Amino acid sequence: MDHLYRGRRFILSKRTSELIALLALSTTLFLYIHTRDLNTKLKEMEIRIQPVSMISSNQLVLSDSGPPAYTGVKATMKLLESTGQMSTLEPSLLNNTKKAKINLIFFNRVPKVGSQTLMELMRRLSMRNNFGFHQDRVQRVETIRLSPEDQAILAALVSSYDPPGVYIKHVCFTNVSSFGLPEPIYINLVRDPVERVISWYYYVRAPWYYVERKIAFPDIPLPDPKWLKKDFEDCVLSEDRECRYLKGEIREGIGDHRRQSMFFCGHHPECLPFNTEGALERAKRAVERNYAVVGVLEELNTTLTVLENYVPRFFKGASKIYWDEISRYYPINKNNFKPTVSEEVKNIVRKNFTKEIEFYEFCKQRLHKQYLALKLPELIT
Ligand SMILES: *[C@@H]1O[C@H](CO)[C@@H](O)[C@H](O)[C@H]1NC(C)=O
Ligand SMILES: *[C@@H]1O[C@H](CO)[C@@H](O)[C@H](O)[C@H]1NC(C)=O
Ligand SMILES: *[C@@H]1O[C@H](CO)[C@@H](O)[C@H](O)[C@H]1NC(C)=O
Ligand SMILES: *[C@@H]1O[C@H](CO)[C@@H](O)[C@H](O)[C@H]1NC(C)=O
Repeated sequence: MDHLYRGRRFILSKRTSELIALLALSTTLFLYIHTRDLNTKLKEMEIRIQPVSMISSNQLVLSDSGPPAYTGVKATMKLLESTGQMSTLEPSLLNNTKKAKINLIFFNRVPKVGSQTLMELMRRLSMRNNFGFHQDRVQRVETIRLSPEDQAILAALVSSYDPPGVYIKHVCFTNVSSFGLPEPIYINLVRDPVERVISWYYYVRAPWYYVERKIAFPDIPLPDPKWLKKDFEDCVLSEDRECRYLKGEIREGIGDHRRQSMFFCGHHPECLPFNTEGALERAKRAVERNYAVVGVLEELNTTLTVLENYVPRFFKGASKIYWDEISRYYPINKNNFKPTVSEEVKNIVRKNFTKEIEFYEFCKQRLHKQYLALKLPELIT
């Protein structure tokens, strides 16, 4: 009797789980079709917006070539002095923190830009400076571009945290205020775009990366050993598909990891084609209008000082904590599986990354201006 009963229960639960599986599958399919439908409709409805205002004209460039006499903040200072703009720098004109309507930081971190380190810094600062720390969990597929509904859901999620707090996620710039919600404080980090692409290339081939993913998602197949051993220089020089960076090309699917400007451009279709003017202008506009600080990985001291001064509620004491507690344990960009890549190969790649490089230089110059506007007695070089 007991035996029979157990047998029936087993059949029942097996049926139930099959039913649930079927239901889940059809829901996913429905959602997929629904989203695809909406995306098509959106594309149809899309109106040509007016040409993006001339943000690029805010960027100064040196006309004469040759080896630069100065680098970093000092180079920008010399440039501003030569145009007479040094005296017009005003912290209040470069301070987007003031525009925020809620004391929440939205850090839409770019992969392979040392954001792990900044995250650890913020986690420690959250205890010291008393604010909430929230981060998105690891995703099976990191979707960085969202459908309009998912953007609305994300905007609502960000706004739902109690201020003061910080929310961290790998995602394209999502304009929270365009959903009628209060504007948060946007921050981010950038890095030399070619170094970043090399870093990404070896990161996805490092043993800990795919082992970690295999543990989290056992059904993901392990990568082909031949692919794992592929070297970046060979990949570029043999014109392998994976290492060809073509202007206007669109790569969808797991997200386009070739460029960081996409994380600033946002979700507009114009942001999709690689190395294009439209995407660059949108990315620059978001930085200028919405981001409180976009730090530069290669200039960490300048970045920390700017964060401390422009977003003090969250970042006061950041430099000290970084140098006392973090720098030793979180060496930036340390991947022992990353061989050195020759300048020659880097220069080949640089030729196709012109807009990415311009964006990086734009962010750097803005950070320098914010720093110089503080008129600190000592200049970081
Ligand atoms: C974000 O949305 C607000 C409100 O709709 C708009 O004024 C602002 O220009 C938008 N920012 C960007 C970068 O699109
Ligand atoms: C760079 O772009 C050119 C022309 O668009 C293309 O022929 C070449 O393969 C690209 N090189 C790399 C390394 O992406
Ligand atoms: C950054 O600041 C730290 C601590 O003040 C100092 O030890 C380090 O040399 C600085 N680095 C650069 C590149 O200026
Ligand atoms: C920028 O604005 C924030 C918020 O109003 C303020 O706390 C901070 O001191 C300002 N920083 C500068 C350098 O003006």
